[in-house]
Amino acid sequence: MMRVFVGITGASGVIYGIKVLELLRRVGAEVHLSISKTAEKIIQLETDYSASHVKSLADYVWDESDLTAPPASGSFGIDAVAIVPCSTKTLAAVANGITLNLIVRAAEVALKERRRVVLVIRESPLSLVHARNIERAILAGAVVMPASPGFYTKPRTIEELVTAFAGRVLDALGIRHELAPRWEGGSARPGPGRPASSAPF
Ligand SMILES: Cc1cc2nc3c(=O)[nH]c(=O)nc-3n(C[C@H](O)[C@H](O)[C@H](O)COP(=O)(O)O)c2cc1C
Repeated sequence: MMRVFVGITGASGVIYGIKVLELLRRVGAEVHLSISKTAEKIIQLETDYSASHVKSLADYVWDESDLTAPPASGSFGIDAVAIVPCSTKTLAAVANGITLNLIVRAAEVALKERRRVVLVIRESPLSLVHARNIERAILAGAVVMPASPGFYTKPRTIEELVTAFAGRVLDALGIRHELAPRWEGGSARPGPGRPASSAPF
């Protein structure tokens, strides 16, 4: 069973993090979750979910300030880390090795252990500071995925758009799944719950 750490930080697009948690649950991953203080507020502002519902999607929930939590140590064996969404502050901390909290520490540990780290950043436009931190994170081994969903699957709802993007996050984490639509050379194969005829290409 894959052991995945998910950090949800204070950027717009917390729904992506929530959808990633739902998909991870469906593939049977062991999920460790930490939500930053600002992300909790943004969950309230942007979604109809409560923070407690989001936490219920994970197997283990850790306070972002708890640097004694197991995911803070490489010996615990987290296989992959996703920070979804990842604020530019958290990006800066990961890219520059500033261990602000457990979320940054989990990413730092995964980088040193040569495990997968996926940072779903969300900011627009980008400054040179952001661009340089993105470069540093990539050079350190992270996968930086701007929260920029594709439209080639012809999503009909925001739910479908978010699911397709969250599926790409699972791909980047190295998890095989059939939970989201994929491009298959001339046509998009639909994800579950959507008939093939509704995804013409
Ligand atoms: C409603 C709201 C939306 C925000 N959206 C973004 C965003 O899209 N990207 C970003 O980098 N920061 C955004 N911020 C600012 C971050 O939340 C802020 O920099 C915070 O300190 C990040 O801390 P964290 O990474 O520990 O959650 C937003 C803040 C609020 C209150």
